[in-house]
Amino acid sequence: MKVISVITEKGGVGKTTTSIHLGATFSEMGKRTLIIDFDAQRNLSLGYKIPKDFPYTVKNFIEKTGNFRLTQKGENLLILAGDRNIEESIYKRFDLKEMIDILASKMTLDFIIIDCPPRPLSGKIGLGEIALCASDYILSPIEAEEYSIEGINELLPSVKRIIDNHNPKLKFLGFFFNKVLTNTKNFKEYSDLAKKQAGQYFLETFIRQDVNVEYAKKEGKTIFQVAPNSRASEDYKNLVREILNKIEK
Ligand SMILES: Nc1ncnc2c1ncn2[C@@H]1O[C@H](COP(=O)(O)OP(=O)(O)OP(=O)(O)O)[C@@H](O)[C@H]1O
Ligand SMILES: [Mg+2]
Repeated sequence: MKVISVITEKGGVGKTTTSIHLGATFSEMGKRTLIIDFDAQRNLSLGYKIPKDFPYTVKNFIEKTGNFRLTQKGENLLILAGDRNIEESIYKRFDLKEMIDILASKMTLDFIIIDCPPRPLSGKIGLGEIALCASDYILSPIEAEEYSIEGINELLPSVKRIIDNHNPKLKFLGFFFNKVLTNTKNFKEYSDLAKKQAGQYFLETFIRQDVNVEYAKKEGKTIFQVAPNSRASEDYKNLVREILNKIEK
């Protein structure tokens, strides 16, 4: 079983969208996949039409109350619902990891994807640190603009600190550009700059901006269902291929 955290400092860059499409592709391939909504905004749970007041959440899970439930969303796809009060309690660094290990000893899972909140590594032991202590891999979407480059510079040292002090098996799968407008000056400029600064951490694949992503979200579906031949659909398939290649290496 491999655990992948989807994490960025900046909000709104595509973590939840990426978690959903990774989960959809893995499960379609026959891999038993669980997505954990680890964000108080609950965007992922809302995307899967899990009711607002659904009481069996990741908070119950991490607090070891036994009162959690996985929601089945397809033959091989399970969701652990988010909780809008997840940030109210203080957790220990390995609370999530301990529960994931218990879960994995009771059921077969090939992948767990953790959809992290924005600014996950700030302050005390944040949710991002707890997620990364439970993970094998980090995946990080960014947008080609100034602040995302700053985000890289914020994320990398924090990740290194966690690897060095708490989770030596954690690996950086990579950054990838999302919502890309190809052939624009901005994209060329910032992707060159980012790759100059942190080129070894970048995946080849990028996801183009595509209105079908919004349409899919509105319908609570994936882009593969709504627009299978669209740009973003093609790009997400390539992204998963690149990720699996890297994991299998
Ligand atoms: N490739 C894309 N093309 C067009 N729109 C996109 C694309 N990827 C994501 N979006 C849109 O951008 C918005 C933000 O995406 P998403 O919710 O996945 O970001 P996030 O990083 O999870 O945000 P947050 O930090 O708030 O959790 C959503 O409305 C989503 O539909
Ligand atoms: Mg999100």
